[in-house]
Amino acid sequence: MKNYDNVIIFDHPLIRHKIAILRDARTSMKEFRELVEEITTLMTYESFKDVPTTEIEVTTPLETCTQTVVKDNSVVIVPILRAGLGMVNGVHVLFPSAKVGHIGMCRNEETLLPDTYYCKLPSGIEDKFVIIVDPMLATGGSACDAIDLIKAKGCKKIKFMAIIGAPEGVSKVAEAHPDVDIYVSTLDRCLNEYGYILPGLGDAGDRLFGTK
Ligand code: PRP
Ligand code: URA
Repeated sequence: MKNYDNVIIFDHPLIRHKIAILRDARTSMKEFRELVEEITTLMTYESFKDVPTTEIEVTTPLETCTQTVVKDNSVVIVPILRAGLGMVNGVHVLFPSAKVGHIGMCRNEETLLPDTYYCKLPSGIEDKFVIIVDPMLATGGSACDAIDLIKAKGCKKIKFMAIIGAPEGVSKVAEAHPDVDIYVSTLDRCLNEYGYILPGLGDAGDRLFGTK
């Protein structure tokens, strides 16, 4: 895949370690869910170096000093249902007061095109830092449509975070939305004929919620 200024691939050994367990078909639903959350928190930590901050006065036992803190309510989390739900708590660990919008999308198994069946976003989202989360970025169709939806609400500061990306999908999103930062923990080899990421981890929604 060619290099894109707006694509950040982590390839951190600690994240790679967790992804190895996540991929394993023997990993239980509980462990899978916990790993998705942990990986998301590690990714969030790295992705928000540009989080809006403000200065406050803090009085220590010795003196008063000026300190930098994260601006309250500056971040909105938007999971793509279903699988994106598994990442919400992982972001909430670092942004406990973040509001959550939901976009429901399901890929048509034949055309691989996403169908949007639900969208509920917090009011005032246009002024927030929006982080869209979905563990899998495969063809990129769901990510592109979700970003289009958020942009249509007037949002300008958007990040997209996926645990595993396929080169085809990452390129598609990066080119369609050069103004959106795309964070991927690891870039896999390719898609198979059914649009599944190889080696991947299978169907993220089914593994998170035990539906297979
Ligand atoms: C999966 C995944 C993404 C989408 C990625 O969801 O969670 O949303 O596929 O594929 P794409 O990049 O080719 O669009 P799915 O449609 O299987 O729904 P689910 O989360 O309800 O299982
Ligand atoms: N959605 C998934 O859950 N897994 C894939 O490999 C591709 C899309």
